[in-house]
Amino acid sequence: MNIIVEVGYLIATVSFLGGLKFMSSPKRAKIGNIFAASGMVLAVICTFLMVLSNAVPTTNLIIALVAILLGTLLGKRMATKVEMTAMPQLVSLFNATGGGCAMLLGIIEANQSRLTEVPVGIKILLLLGLVTGAVAATGSIVAYGKLAGKTKDKRTKGVVYGSRVLLGLILLLPLIYFIGFVPVPFEIFTYIMAAFALCYGILFVLPIGGADMPVVISLLNSITGIATAFAGFVYGNKAMIAGGIFVGAAGILLTLLMCKAMNRSLIKVLAGKFKKSSAAADEEEQHIKSIASAEIAMQLSFASKIAIVPGYGLAVAQGQHLCGQLQKLLANRGVHIDFIIHPVAGRMPGHMNVLLAEANIDYEHLKEMNEVNDQMSHYDLVLIIGANDVVNPAAETKPDSPVYGMPIIKAHESKQVVVMKRSMSTGYAGVSNDLFGMDNCSLLFGDAKDSLQEIINQLKLI
Ligand code: TAP
Repeated sequence: MNIIVEVGYLIATVSFLGGLKFMSSPKRAKIGNIFAASGMVLAVICTFLMVLSNAVPTTNLIIALVAILLGTLLGKRMATKVEMTAMPQLVSLFNATGGGCAMLLGIIEANQSRLTEVPVGIKILLLLGLVTGAVAATGSIVAYGKLAGKTKDKRTKGVVYGSRVLLGLILLLPLIYFIGFVPVPFEIFTYIMAAFALCYGILFVLPIGGADMPVVISLLNSITGIATAFAGFVYGNKAMIAGGIFVGAAGILLTLLMCKAMNRSLIKVLAGKFKKSSAAADEEEQHIKSIASAEIAMQLSFASKIAIVPGYGLAVAQGQHLCGQLQKLLANRGVHIDFIIHPVAGRMPGHMNVLLAEANIDYEHLKEMNEVNDQMSHYDLVLIIGANDVVNPAAETKPDSPVYGMPIIKAHESKQVVVMKRSMSTGYAGVSNDLFGMDNCSLLFGDAKDSLQEIINQLKLI
C-alpha cells in the first residue's frame, strides 16, 4: 500500500508543478487549474488509502467524509454565486480556512504528542505551522471584512504597539519554553501560542488600508502555504510539503510583483502608508471635453486600429460581455482591436483577464502593457473603460503625485482617447487624472455598461 501512496503523492506533486506552469499563461490557466485540482484530489485519495491501511476508527472516517462533502457543497455554492467584484473577498475567506486548518492540525498533533515523546525539532515545526496558520486565519478574516466594507482601517497607536508586543512574544516565548523556563506541558503551550498568533493576525492586518488588501491577501496566502509545508514536515507528507512550498513561493512572488506594479514597497503597504498628493498638484484646472456615444461610434467606424483599456469600473458595471460584442462588431468590419491590460488594473491580480475571458474574448487580442507601450501612436483610438490610475500620465511627470513612478499604459500617446466613467471621481489612488484635460482626450459620462450599449446601438446604425 505504501508504495502506491508514495507514487500517488509523486504524481500529485508533478500535477501541482504542471498546474503552476500552465497558469503562467491566461490561455492555459483553466487547464492548469484542472491539472492542479486533479493532483489535489489524488493526494486526498492517497491519504485515505494510507489512513485505511492504519486501521483508523470508522467514526473518524465518517467525520472526514462528511466534512469533505459539506466543504465541497458550500465551496461550490459560494464560488458559483460570487460576483466578479467580490472575488478577492472570497479568496480571502477560503484562505482563512486553509490557515485555520493548519493551526488545528498543530493543536491536534500536540495533544497526541502527550502520549509519546516527540523530538524538539518536530515540536518546533509544529509550532511554526500552528503560529503561521493562526496568523493567516484571523488576518484573512479581517482582510475579508475590509474588502466587504464591514471592517474599518484602524491605525491607532494601541494597534501598532499591541501588534509589536505580540510579535515579540511569539518570537521569544518558544525560545524560553525550549530552554525550560516555561513549566507547562507542550499541549498547553500550543494553546497559548495559538491565542497570541490569532490576536496578532488581527492586529497585523487592521492598520493596512482596505485598497491594499489584494497585496495582503496574496501575502497571507503565501503564509498559509508555508504553514501547510510545516505541517507536511510534521506528518512526513511529501505532497503537503511540496504543495505548501509552491503556494508559499507563488504567493510571495505575486505579492512582490503587485507592489512593483503599484510602485510601492511591501514595507510601506504593511505599514499602511500611502503617499498623499500635495493639494497644489491636485487642484490644477483641467479643460474637460465630453463626447456623445454617436460621435464615438463614428470615430470607431473610421478607425483601423483600436485599443480598449479595461479597469475596475468595467468590473463594477459588468460590461465585459458588451466589450466582447463591440470587439466582434468591429472585427467584422475589418477593424483591428487590442485589449491592453495593466498588471494591477482592477482590484486583484488577473482581474481583467478573468473578466475578458468570461466574455470569450480571444487571448490573441489581449496585450500586456510593455508589449504595446512604445507603439501607442499607432492606435487611432484608445477606449478607456472604467480605468483611471493605470493611465494617469502624472505617474511619469509629477514627482509629488502618489502614483509617480507607477508604470502606466501610455494611452495619452495615441491619436485619440475616449474615457468612459460616471463622473469626475478619482480612482483608487485618490488623485485627479492629467489625461482627462489633454487635447486628444474626451470623456463619455455614464455607467460603462450603458455607455457601451449606446455605442454598439449607434455603430449598428452606421
Ligand atoms: P481605478 O483607478 O480605481 O479607477 C476606476 C474608475 O472606474 C474610477 O475612476 C471610477 O470613476 C470608474 N468607475 C467605477 N464604476 C464605474 C461604472 N459602473 N461605470 C463606469 N466607470 C466606473 O481603477 P484602475 O485604473 O483599474 O486601477 C486600479 C487601481 O487599484 C490602481 O491604483 C492599483 O494600484 C490599485 N490596486 C490594484 C490591485 C490589483 S492586484 N489589481 C491591488 C491593489 C491596488 P467614476 O466613479 O467616476 O465612475
